[in-house]
Amino acid sequence: AARLVILISGRGSNMLSIIQAIQEKHLDAQIAAVISNRPDAAGIVSAQQAGIDTQLLDHKSFESREAFDASLIQVIDRYQPDYVVLAGFMRILTAEFVAHYAGKLINIHPSLLPKFKGLHTHQRALEAGESEHGASVHFVTAELDDGPVILQAKVPVMADDSAETLAARVLEQEHMLYPAALKKLIDEAKANTP
Ligand code: GAR
Repeated sequence: AARLVILISGRGSNMLSIIQAIQEKHLDAQIAAVISNRPDAAGIVSAQQAGIDTQLLDHKSFESREAFDASLIQVIDRYQPDYVVLAGFMRILTAEFVAHYAGKLINIHPSLLPKFKGLHTHQRALEAGESEHGASVHFVTAELDDGPVILQAKVPVMADDSAETLAARVLEQEHMLYPAALKKLIDEAKANTP
């Protein structure tokens, strides 16, 4: 089974959707560890309850982004992951970090990339008058929210949507999209292994 290390900063609902997909045997993977950069991330508690090894690496206790990323690499590499899965991990990563995990670093972003990179994607989609919105799972490259897309899910934007109602509709899709995108990668990797 493919080894995953999942990085979170908060709620962890996408992480839970991956845990569930593994438990239900939709995804041939195991989660080696869940790492949070925030001590108050609710997802850490959920991961512990699922019996998964958790680590906290508080970015505030490092003097630079480079120092934080270097320590993060050390913690992750202890688990020898096949994929490093960003699931609501709200830190920009250095080019060194990204290069270290080239081809293994995956993110979920709440927009139809290349539209709406960065933050506040749902509000921005509403303000732009979009009729469709969604989420993307993509490889991480050094440019923010810019790497090759693996899978996307679309939702309609309703006339009476707020950022919150739209976010909820997208999140429901994210919870199916992330396990499906990981399955696609893992199945392709298997097919390419002699
Ligand atoms: C998700 O909507 C994810 O797409 C988004 O944060 C939320 C995390 O929720 N990620 C980003 O905005 C990345 N820049 P979760 O902690 O419940 O999975």
